[in-house]
Amino acid sequence: MGRESIVHGDVEAIERYDRVEAKAREGEIVLSYIQAETLLAARRAGVQQVEVSPDLGLSTVSVTLTDEGVRLFRDEVVSWSDIEKIKRAETSCFLVQDRSIRAIQVFSEATNRMCSLMPTKRTPTMLIAGFTMHRIVDIDPMQDTRKKIATITPLVGRVLDTATGLGYTAIEAARTADEVVTIELDPGAQEIAHHNPWSRELFTHPKIKQVMGDAFEIVPTFADASFARIIHDPPVFSLAGELYSGQFYRELYRVLKPGGRLFHYIGDLNSKSGGTVTRGALRRLQESGFTRIVKHPEAFGVVAYK
Ligand SMILES: C[S@@+](CC[C@H](N)C(=O)[O-])C[C@H]1O[C@@H](n2cnc3c(N)ncnc32)[C@H](O)[C@@H]1O
Repeated sequence: MGRESIVHGDVEAIERYDRVEAKAREGEIVLSYIQAETLLAARRAGVQQVEVSPDLGLSTVSVTLTDEGVRLFRDEVVSWSDIEKIKRAETSCFLVQDRSIRAIQVFSEATNRMCSLMPTKRTPTMLIAGFTMHRIVDIDPMQDTRKKIATITPLVGRVLDTATGLGYTAIEAARTADEVVTIELDPGAQEIAHHNPWSRELFTHPKIKQVMGDAFEIVPTFADASFARIIHDPPVFSLAGELYSGQFYRELYRVLKPGGRLFHYIGDLNSKSGGTVTRGALRRLQESGFTRIVKHPEAFGVVAYK
């Protein structure tokens, strides 16, 4: 809803709109093909002002269309040829800076992997070495995140999140937990999260403590029974085999409190490859000491109880 369309005299609604718009203006401007489509449609319709999101759908602002391009706030102008370019890019989001655009992607020297912020119709995901870090088929990354979290609610006490990614699980967990410790191996992935408007709370939430490094090395440094919940959401087995190993599961068991629960994302339990990985993971989790393991096909993972 645009500012103009708020019923005249509804001061509260206008103030609310201005607050949201002011907040949007504080952050970086990030656009994807979704916003590009809105802008191109508005241009075809011959309008001069249109509401568009400067932060991948979190908020909207009113922008002006000119012959030259789109005039955003802070004097940023994006040319029509750049808008066309954004529209054609279905696997990248773009940062608007100094009147030019830059794809949000980095080649990570640390892992030799390409990381990028990939738009969806709603919450973006991250691509690492061509793999999406969230489910996006018939589900949105935020719904995917909530399904993972729902398997181990209530998220109370200290929570360990073994693989930060875009921080969605850490942010969701921080809504109810006392503290969330989240680990990320790849500085490239961290940089992508920095530019993702949906990851902002990862860097600002007082309950989230970020640790950079390899979870395989960092988890062994934590005290016994120091976490009430663990969210283990590693990349696919082919990218991070050691995070599916018996040695790592034994460490997760050790740092979990008695009565605690671990959610382990594995992939589609009913697919051929998911089924194979699940069978191995279930066996190793049992051998590591977990007494009860329950499959959660709706969340593409399992919950292990200590
Ligand atoms: C599937 S994503 C996690 C998604 C995350 N839960 C979220 O909500 O956005 C996996 C992440 O683990 C990171 N990673 C890979 N190997 C790792 C390791 N050994 N230790 C810590 N993080 C690792 C990847 O760089 C990637 O960012």
